[in-house]
Amino acid sequence: MPELNWLGDRKAKDAAKRVPYRLLEPMAQVGDPAAGNLLIQGDNLDALKSLLPLYAGRVKCIFIDPPYNTRSAFEHYDDNLEHSQWLSMMYPRLELLRELLAEDGSIWVTIDDNEGHYLKVMMDEVFGRKNFVANVVWQKKYAVKNDSEFFSESHDHILVYAKNGRELKLYREQRSEEQEGRYKNPDDDSRGAWTSGPLQRNEFREYAYFAITGPSGREHFPPKGTSWRYTKEKMAELIEQDRIWFGASGNNVPRLKRFLAEVAETVAPTTWWDYAVAGHNDQARREAKVLTEDVDLFGTPKPELLVRRILTLATNPNDLVLDSFLGSGTTAAVAHKMGRRWIGIEMGEHARTHCLPRLTKVVEGEQGGISSAVNWQGGGGFRFMRLGEPVFEQDGRIAPSVRFAPLAAYLWFAETRVPWERLSHAGPSPQPSPRGGEGAELSPLLGVHGDTAIVLLYNGILGDRRPQGGNVLTHAVWQDIHALLPDHTGSWLVYGEASRLQPATLKRLNLTFKQIPYDIRVR
Ligand SMILES: C[S@@+](CC[C@H](N)C(=O)[O-])C[C@H]1O[C@@H](n2cnc3c(N)ncnc32)[C@H](O)[C@@H]1O
Repeated sequence: MPELNWLGDRKAKDAAKRVPYRLLEPMAQVGDPAAGNLLIQGDNLDALKSLLPLYAGRVKCIFIDPPYNTRSAFEHYDDNLEHSQWLSMMYPRLELLRELLAEDGSIWVTIDDNEGHYLKVMMDEVFGRKNFVANVVWQKKYAVKNDSEFFSESHDHILVYAKNGRELKLYREQRSEEQEGRYKNPDDDSRGAWTSGPLQRNEFREYAYFAITGPSGREHFPPKGTSWRYTKEKMAELIEQDRIWFGASGNNVPRLKRFLAEVAETVAPTTWWDYAVAGHNDQARREAKVLTEDVDLFGTPKPELLVRRILTLATNPNDLVLDSFLGSGTTAAVAHKMGRRWIGIEMGEHARTHCLPRLTKVVEGEQGGISSAVNWQGGGGFRFMRLGEPVFEQDGRIAPSVRFAPLAAYLWFAETRVPWERLSHAGPSPQPSPRGGEGAELSPLLGVHGDTAIVLLYNGILGDRRPQGGNVLTHAVWQDIHALLPDHTGSWLVYGEASRLQPATLKRLNLTFKQIPYDIRVR
């Protein structure tokens, strides 16, 4: 397959693997933290990697609005990356985003003409050409700029890809007011407003070629080379039901009546024109001005209406939405008001100074943007987190402060490539164990994957009465482990500091021992 080459592409294509796995440190919580929403401050390359062990394959919709590389400098982020640097920045992030997407999920990326066509080729490579869904064209400006050199630029692209085109389902949206305006009720039909469409199909079928007699007595045949869309019997039924319109005079060419009440939902077009249906840049700036006068802080924020339209098409209530270039927090605010769960990542200091207060106001019932349209009354909550230290030190050793649960999540994911169910940032932090281990509710048995039971002995999880606080696999420790799953007939995989069991015993127990840290796949 043809692919994109640029200076530094090999390094960029390896970057997602090389980036270290870091912990996420809780900084604050707002409202109900169990709502499962996360605001993360930090570089999204690190943050996305940290999310993998918990969220791989779980995100229903990713919306990102990355810096466009427009060569105009902003105060708080460098949008003026070289072309190659921009491509190198995007590639590993798209790779990680793909891993986070659910099989029936989709990713939507806004971009302009500076990088849009390169991005298309790159996304073809990362997501697969067959998973390309659409290039939506969104009208971002309503006024023509007469001082433009050649054209007054009025649109952005929104590239849409599925994780797996065969699994993707996009939802329908309500007809817009403008579309609804086309429905009228000239004959005072009790079924309400309607519009009419042609009754013939553009090919000839003998069984559907016959005369229809209108109220005026005039006979109508389908035009030459065409035929009616219905059989004679069906047509008689439709006339009987007053679903065929012959004009006010009763003498016109017949047309089919389509009632608004029966077609309230519609498939979205790829042109989001005019701006009334999905907002525009000025509207977004007005929304952002409520937060700060310094709107350029976020580059060009997106209007809530645009994100609402995307989430309407791509998600259901309670689905998980991710934006890893959060800017002023629009995606998180809209997802929250629409009853979706969300994760937002922003590296700038405005994550704390602007996103945090904006989303706090949303929890409190803020009434800007789409609030009245979705009848937002407040509620829910989120956690605010920062990137912590890497889990593994330069020489591969585990950083001393690393606790049981994050290491367990990492190891589980490294072995299975699916998220570990037990740990969630939504839930409470593990409490210190009265037994001296780390978490009373945590168990060294991480779970069973396929037919392998996976066990982690770390940080004295079994209590400190055993060698190295229970981190060494001895006969006594094995008895404790086995007692956790006595009926298990498959294999065992145990991570620990050392094993005192003989190779023959390990073989008899169908047990593979992996030594921490040496046998841990760090990347
Ligand atoms: C165009 S703005 C997004 C605006 C957003 N859609 C809104 O409505 O406010 C892009 C944002 O991405 C952030 N950003 C750029 N590179 C990043 C990175 N590597 N990690 C996290 N955030 C990043 C910038 O700080 C900036 O706030």
